[in-house]
Amino acid sequence: MSDSEGDFLSRLSAVAVNAEALIDALLTHEAPEGELERPHRLLEAMRYASLGGGKRIRPFLVVASADLFAVPRQRSLMVGAALELIHCYSLVHDDLPAMDDDSLRRGRPTAHKAFDEASAILAGDSLLTFAFDVLSRPEAHPDASVRVALIQALARAAGLGGMAGGQLLDLAAEGRFADGRPQRLEEGAILTLQAMKTGALLRFGCAAGGVLGGASATEKAALDRYGAIVGQAFQIADDLLDVEGDSATLGKAAQKDADAGKATLVGILGLAPAKARLSALVDEAEKTLAPFGERAAILVETAKFIANRRS
Ligand code: IPE
Ligand code: IPE
Ligand code: MG
Ligand code: MG
Ligand code: MG
Repeated sequence: MSDSEGDFLSRLSAVAVNAEALIDALLTHEAPEGELERPHRLLEAMRYASLGGGKRIRPFLVVASADLFAVPRQRSLMVGAALELIHCYSLVHDDLPAMDDDSLRRGRPTAHKAFDEASAILAGDSLLTFAFDVLSRPEAHPDASVRVALIQALARAAGLGGMAGGQLLDLAAEGRFADGRPQRLEEGAILTLQAMKTGALLRFGCAAGGVLGGASATEKAALDRYGAIVGQAFQIADDLLDVEGDSATLGKAAQKDADAGKATLVGILGLAPAKARLSALVDEAEKTLAPFGERAAILVETAKFIANRRS
């Protein structure tokens, strides 16, 4: 392992510990002012889905991009926690029988297996809305106009034209609707689907650092481009791991996408070209960060990690 890779892994695990502690502290049993009570079963399902696992790469992207502008850590962690809550909600719903129908997530039973479907659906709903509660708090940024900009960007990344929209396209490609036949999507359509279902949240994470840090328009554009590239790389790596990984290492099911008829680049291009695409994306990510110089070394390492991860 190179020094920079070791440095990256220790920084990732430090942010993961901080994000975990923050989510734990936010999801308390005591109802804050304005809430009547927090039903125990729902809170427990939310905590189950958001604590005790996950790489926490999305909070890391917020922190690392915000570090470029010396943003106070408390702020970037709040925004990172909000983003992670949305991600955890997306996993709970993604695993439901009506979607990917999975029983294993982060090495444990999926939320609807550990609880029940209704509780899992409601835990997802509540994680989604709670993310915006977190983002609206002054600890995320003292300037309300910055908070509103982040709220709008995250809402767009998570919803109709972002993650949820991409999930719909993903299931449509499997042939779940209309005539029920799987669609054979062209590369461009797969790129769009994946930019929405996976890329949008990762891209938000990278852009958020620039918003928090008052970046220039050029800096914001570079971070947005970097976010789009790592977003694309992330899902290619996920789809490669579905083919080449094993469930014990991944902590989730493997070898499912092809049988399910998922539209993936790995599926239409094959393994070797998909891997070549991944390494080209890492090079492109590095070039995109060139304007930041050495300050962005950690984000270059992050792109490598996203492409080469084993879980
Ligand atoms: C898995 O995301 C879902 C996709 C978007 C492909 P991660 O691989 O980041 O999952 P965790 O958070 O580490 O469990
Ligand atoms: C899911 O993509 C992306 C989400 C929005 C959750 P996948 O369905 O491939 O993610 P995994 O493989 O279940 O983690
Ligand atoms: Mg899915
Ligand atoms: Mg899935
Ligand atoms: Mg997958």
